[in-house]
Amino acid sequence: LENGLARTPPMGWMSWGYYMCGIKCEGNESKCLNEDLVLSVADTFYDEGYQEAGYEYIIVDDCWSEKARDRNGKLVADRKRFPRGMKFLADYIHSKGLKFGMYTNIAEVTCMRYPGSKNYLSLDAQTFAEWGVDYLKVDGCYVTEEFLNVGYIRLGKYLNETKRPMVYSCSWPYYIEFIHRKKPDYALIAKYCNMWRNYHDVQTSWEAMIGIVEHYRSSYGEMAPYHHPGQWNDPDMLIFGTGVLTRSQSRIQLAVYVMLSAPILISCDMNKITAYEKQLLLNLDLIAVGQDPLGIMAKPYKFHGLVLWVKPHLPKKGDSYPTFSFALVNLDIEDVRLDLKPGLYGLNSTDGYSMMDVFSGHHIKNITLHDTISLIVPGHDVLMYTMYPL
Ligand code: GLA
Ligand code: GLA
Repeated sequence: LENGLARTPPMGWMSWGYYMCGIKCEGNESKCLNEDLVLSVADTFYDEGYQEAGYEYIIVDDCWSEKARDRNGKLVADRKRFPRGMKFLADYIHSKGLKFGMYTNIAEVTCMRYPGSKNYLSLDAQTFAEWGVDYLKVDGCYVTEEFLNVGYIRLGKYLNETKRPMVYSCSWPYYIEFIHRKKPDYALIAKYCNMWRNYHDVQTSWEAMIGIVEHYRSSYGEMAPYHHPGQWNDPDMLIFGTGVLTRSQSRIQLAVYVMLSAPILISCDMNKITAYEKQLLLNLDLIAVGQDPLGIMAKPYKFHGLVLWVKPHLPKKGDSYPTFSFALVNLDIEDVRLDLKPGLYGLNSTDGYSMMDVFSGHHIKNITLHDTISLIVPGHDVLMYTMYPL
């Protein structure tokens, strides 16, 4: 969607993955979706370096509202959990220089059966704008294929008419493909949405995480042509901070997401992010790969259990040759040996390249277009390099 927004993939925090429908708060404070939680995420982003690294959007997902609209048909935030309303949250988040996201569904109800926007598309667009929303995730549960195809377009038009810039995140293709069993029309979706969910909800497990990675690998041909500034395929939230990933598994998830130029949305209790995960999330070389202004989805090459992802970047100012990033992901438990010939993947600087290990930030060596680099990728791990033209 060419609305000037999401020129690089959005980064931030979203409530659903970890807090889900966190409405039971008494005696269950640690899983409660409420005002305190959202304010504390804003504080953490502001105080602990996340904001400087590019994490910007704080997004409240399903289960934020009262079960009924008010007498004018307007949405109302849950009075117990969000006592000062959503505008208050937006103002607080904005006061920290951050951005505020919310959630609705284009059916009569949301996926968790809170009021949905179907018969209130215009009013709800106005309400979100009035509240200071900067990002709207719009789900597609419980509607027909026909209505998915008109509802997202109609709501997008109303959002645009509010004149408030709002990143428009659609779950449209997911429902077309996995509920209605049709091929998504990505050209159409990309025209109306800034980003879109293609695949199932992430679950907090290695298997689910790697299932998503494999889906984006096998669907590369279908998705990559529509992936660029203002329009992003969205593989769903990271599962950092949930305790299920080993260090190397967390490296895989973040490496693949940045190689894809996917949105980076954390979903967890920010206090549960380990020191190691935090170091990865704040690794500016890693973030730079994902926030490259060209926003090209890395191309996957599969060698048995190993997937090589290759991503060209925008050439640096004054440079004629693009920088490239390589990620080698080992999906097997056994180590894999590989002779990598970077020259086979589009590199073209005859002066060669300087090879940097993205995780350590260390310069490894200078290479030419004819070099073969012998590597060992440990089981369930990833090696990642950025090659800068010399
Ligand atoms: C769907 C979406 C999730 C989340 C829930 C909320 O499952 O895919 O990301 O928004 O609905 O109910
Ligand atoms: C449907 C959707 C899921 C999820 C549930 C929530 O089954 O396909 O993604 O949103 O509804 O109830």
